[in-house]
Amino acid sequence: MRSSFLTLALAALATAQTTSNCNPLKKTCPADPALGGHVDFDFKSKSDRFTSIGGEPSYGTDGATFTINKEGDAPTLGTKFYIMFGHVEIKIKASPGTGLVSSAILQSDDLDEIDWEWLGGDNGNVQSNYFGKGITGNYDRAAFHPVSDTQGQYHTYAIDWTKDRIQWIIDGNVVRTLTPQDADNGNQYPQSPMNIRIGSWAGGASENEGTVEWAGGKTDFSQAPFKMFVESLAITDYSTGQSYSYGNNSGTWQSIKSDGGKIEGT
Ligand SMILES: *[C@@H]1O[C@H](CO)[C@@H](O)[C@H](O)[C@H]1NC(C)=O
Repeated sequence: MRSSFLTLALAALATAQTTSNCNPLKKTCPADPALGGHVDFDFKSKSDRFTSIGGEPSYGTDGATFTINKEGDAPTLGTKFYIMFGHVEIKIKASPGTGLVSSAILQSDDLDEIDWEWLGGDNGNVQSNYFGKGITGNYDRAAFHPVSDTQGQYHTYAIDWTKDRIQWIIDGNVVRTLTPQDADNGNQYPQSPMNIRIGSWAGGASENEGTVEWAGGKTDFSQAPFKMFVESLAITDYSTGQSYSYGNNSGTWQSIKSDGGKIEGT
């Protein structure tokens, strides 16, 4: 639910954007540009491989700083490329602040999603979560994982995603594994081309009471600025090619086609 809120907020902010408005399960959409390899970002300067939504982070020797100064700020970077199964690794210090949400998510055009989320009011945990085709289920998919001082210390959080399983990994330790069999309803396993979005937003400023509650309470903007720091981001695409497209409206990985390459698992 929470990430669906984020999705809606970002979709609203991103109305002029490329393919994210087109749901391939409902119509024919442009193909998703593929990463088809590996890329490292140190955020010492702005990269043209991202679109910024809701505000631009600042860049420097320490990496990217995502700052919320006032209500309505939600600095977010989204990759212009997609991966079709892969490995994403982020070194991050989450934002403090009641109701603040730091997030690193993988999201597809048909709204499959794999998430890391940190709450500003909880310096000792990170949440993992997933969604399939925008379906939230019973809001029972989030898991909490203890991490010491998420806001004061850099930790490395990774997602390793194949057709057989998703692993959430903290500082090299697997803390959660999800298989297609474990995923809700048989069709909720994330399995379509994903872009990567990292950002910070104030769930505690939402008009939705449930979101405020989940985010840990109302955000007090007199305590701003709230800062999230990203030192590095490493992304590997397990598939290859120029672009990925949906062969039909099933949303299954078997239906995804690569232009000029191969989908992992075929
Ligand atoms: C979608 O494509 C896949 C792979 O070609 C195929 O197995 C599946 O039956 C198709 N589903 C629909 C609903 O057309």
